[in-house]
Amino acid sequence: MITGKPLYTVNQIQDRVKEIADAISDDFKGEELLVIPILKGAFMFASDLVRNIKVPLKMDFIMASSYLKTDSTGEVTLHCDVRENVMDRNVLLVEDIVDTGVTLNYIRERLLQKRPRSLKICGLLDKRERREVDVPLDYIGFEIPDVFVVGYGLDYDNKYRNLPYLAVFKKESDER
Ligand code: IMP
Repeated sequence: MITGKPLYTVNQIQDRVKEIADAISDDFKGEELLVIPILKGAFMFASDLVRNIKVPLKMDFIMASSYLKTDSTGEVTLHCDVRENVMDRNVLLVEDIVDTGVTLNYIRERLLQKRPRSLKICGLLDKRERREVDVPLDYIGFEIPDVFVVGYGLDYDNKYRNLPYLAVFKKESDER
């Protein structure tokens, strides 16, 4: 069940995405980026983000999961890995939400082994109080409390990704 008013509205999200994209464009002036969203959750955020980034970029994708409905399993499954050559590239990893940090840490370590020129991480949401693994975040949309969030790409059981805003989700016993 989606509760109350949006946690962040469409306008609030779009304004923040533009601010982050401006910061990224400034930081990488004169350079080229390889932007890698982590699917599935980051697809909507990443598509808005790259439309606002003003430096040349290429894209690749990683698909990974660690969540079963509303709980972290603590184990990361990699469903699809990068195909672009990462060595000596400026990589920008884009994540929907950083919770325990396990997923991002796993993917970051894998990418670092491929020796990129730089590796920056951009997360839309940061649930900092849940962190178990310390992973460096370079760009953050919003820091949020320990609530389960859906919408704008984020899901519960693969549902609600299409909501254009972010909402708090409360589990109902009869939710399917
Ligand atoms: P972590 O590995 O614990 O940091 O979990 C990160 C992943 O768990 C995210 O990429 C999401 O797929 C999922 N996740 C964590 N919190 C939420 C949430 O509040 N809503 C939806 N998915 C979440």
